[in-house]
Amino acid sequence: MKVPFVDLKPQYQSIKPEIDAAIAGVIENTSFIGGGIIKDFEKAFAEYIGVDHCVACANGTDAIEIALQALGIGEGDEVIVPAITWIATAGAVKNVGAEPVFVDLIEREFTMNPDLLEDVITDQTKAIIPVHLYGLPCRMPEVMAIARKHDLYVLEDCAQAHGANIDGKTVGTFGDIATFSFYPGKNLGAYGDAGGIVTNDENLANTCRMICNHGQPKKHVHKMIGRNSRMDTMQAAILNVKLPHLTDWTKKRQQVAEWYGIYLPEEIKRPRVPEEYEHVYHLYVIRAKNREEVLRLLDDAGIGHAIHYPTALPFVNAFVYKDHDKTDFPVAHQLSKEIISIPMFSELKEEQVKYVSKVLSNTI
Ligand SMILES: Cc1ncc(COP(=O)(O)O)c(C=O)c1O
Repeated sequence: MKVPFVDLKPQYQSIKPEIDAAIAGVIENTSFIGGGIIKDFEKAFAEYIGVDHCVACANGTDAIEIALQALGIGEGDEVIVPAITWIATAGAVKNVGAEPVFVDLIEREFTMNPDLLEDVITDQTKAIIPVHLYGLPCRMPEVMAIARKHDLYVLEDCAQAHGANIDGKTVGTFGDIATFSFYPGKNLGAYGDAGGIVTNDENLANTCRMICNHGQPKKHVHKMIGRNSRMDTMQAAILNVKLPHLTDWTKKRQQVAEWYGIYLPEEIKRPRVPEEYEHVYHLYVIRAKNREEVLRLLDDAGIGHAIHYPTALPFVNAFVYKDHDKTDFPVAHQLSKEIISIPMFSELKEEQVKYVSKVLSNTI
């Protein structure tokens, strides 16, 4: 049996007539940028998350940069980010001229450890970016309490966590502003690059919208120097078809996680989900001290895998100038050596999960 790490085809097959019609409609109308389809998506996604405003943009990296700019963050400012996340989170901070400051993780949850935040807050700190990594919400009540105490903005990076929530409160609604990626493999994925920014603050939403479109509140009025970060209409049309299915696809991911919970041998460390926290399993990440051996066995058995991410950010080349030692981020450093993402997508079958689990039980 072969088990791919992820396979986007079965999902497309299941909604093919709707998707094909949506794409054909955009081509028929030859309206490729902007228009009602983008507005429909922004409205529907804002409703799905439970916020007043959504600004569609070109990708999840731009979304973070634009949100930071809209908050007025730049040169001389510091922004706290977790030591393990996709490079985009910290890269966006650098790209607006600010400095990312890393904080270590909660070992069993892979998310920012709020107990360590106050150690790294300085007079330059302007914001915290909690990342709901792999689909599990960060400890948001604790993060928000510290942010409010120190008068810091909170930008939630929800790229991997569409619909994740804490006791029914969806991620993206805790902080001042939040960003999403709709990269094809994400829980809600377009058929190319796409991203979004959500907030309840109308002024922030308007500023983001302006930045996304060359600083124009209306045509040929440039209040500021923005950029081109528009979501293209084709992607919005696809996302409009897919969004109503997201809840069902999330339930299926959770079912797959439940099967792993049943079939994986107990010795294998898997994510801990705090009570009242709903994980949406963008990724299912286990840990193995003998990772090289486990990866070889998975390869031999035809099972796809990945590592998110093999080097904690303080130690990637782009940040060596910070001169961090592994003892500065002991949890992130250790996790980066042990984590393995195993197959996870909505259409995985119970038999496939059993097979992956059986192969993994040969590695302990
Ligand atoms: C945590 C996180 N932040 C930001 C991004 C950036 O999103 P995009 O690839 O759409 O630019 C990603 C995408 O992988 C991500 O996983």
